[in-house]
Amino acid sequence: MKIGLFDSGIGGLTVLAQIMKLMPEEEYIYYADSDNCPYGIKTKEEIYALSKKAVVFLKEKGCDIVCIACNTATSVAAARLREEYDFPIVGVEPAVKPAIDHMATDGGNGRILVIATPMTVNQKKLHDLIDRLDEEHLVDMKALGNLPGYAEKGDFDSPSLYKYFDRELGDEKYKKYTKVVLGCTHFIHYTEALSKYFSDDVEFLDGAEGTARNIRNICSRAGLETAGHLSIEFYRSGHEASEENVSFYRMILDRLSKK
Ligand code: DGL
Repeated sequence: MKIGLFDSGIGGLTVLAQIMKLMPEEEYIYYADSDNCPYGIKTKEEIYALSKKAVVFLKEKGCDIVCIACNTATSVAAARLREEYDFPIVGVEPAVKPAIDHMATDGGNGRILVIATPMTVNQKKLHDLIDRLDEEHLVDMKALGNLPGYAEKGDFDSPSLYKYFDRELGDEKYKKYTKVVLGCTHFIHYTEALSKYFSDDVEFLDGAEGTARNIRNICSRAGLETAGHLSIEFYRSGHEASEENVSFYRMILDRLSKK
């Protein structure tokens, strides 16, 4: 089978890394829309149009299933695209439920922070999810709209990155968060850098592994046959990725496989 994944850039590689652990012998196509990153500050119509282009591109490349490995594009475009096409389109969801469940098991008096792009934080979808699950009113939200841009430049640890974090998260009030939901796939690359801004025993939660399990279940229910070998093709905003881009993506995947 052929599995397509798309994100506004390198965020969705976190989902690819997880799915490759569960399904190591399949053909993957990864579409990074880095030329149009960040999505989180665009309008809904722009995000929908870019998502549609990527999903259709992956389908035309022969993918049996497409994963929108981007929370922003999922919240804006997934439902609409599922109505328009009849192949499986899987999205990513912020891991709010696991965070609330873990909080209940751990006890303690910390709080939960969902960090995501401005678009995701302003979407009714996330507010509805939190309203439905957060009976104890433990969950807050915060947008970090510039962070995907740092990731696209391969900046995971620079003075300017920490200056940005200090400005956004330097206030003592962030120390009360013991669970932080990474509601943007790009943010999953920053767990080490982010940890000093929250409670000493902070736990980061993301939807990458759950999404990978979801993809595996859908493929197995659909009876799709295994390819029997691993291959990954990379595209950048509708074109074959350059050698330089491919080595960057492979370096990121390698980094993720060591986590
Ligand atoms: N990686 C994306 C997400 O999960 C979006 C980042 C962006 O382009 O703003 O929300």
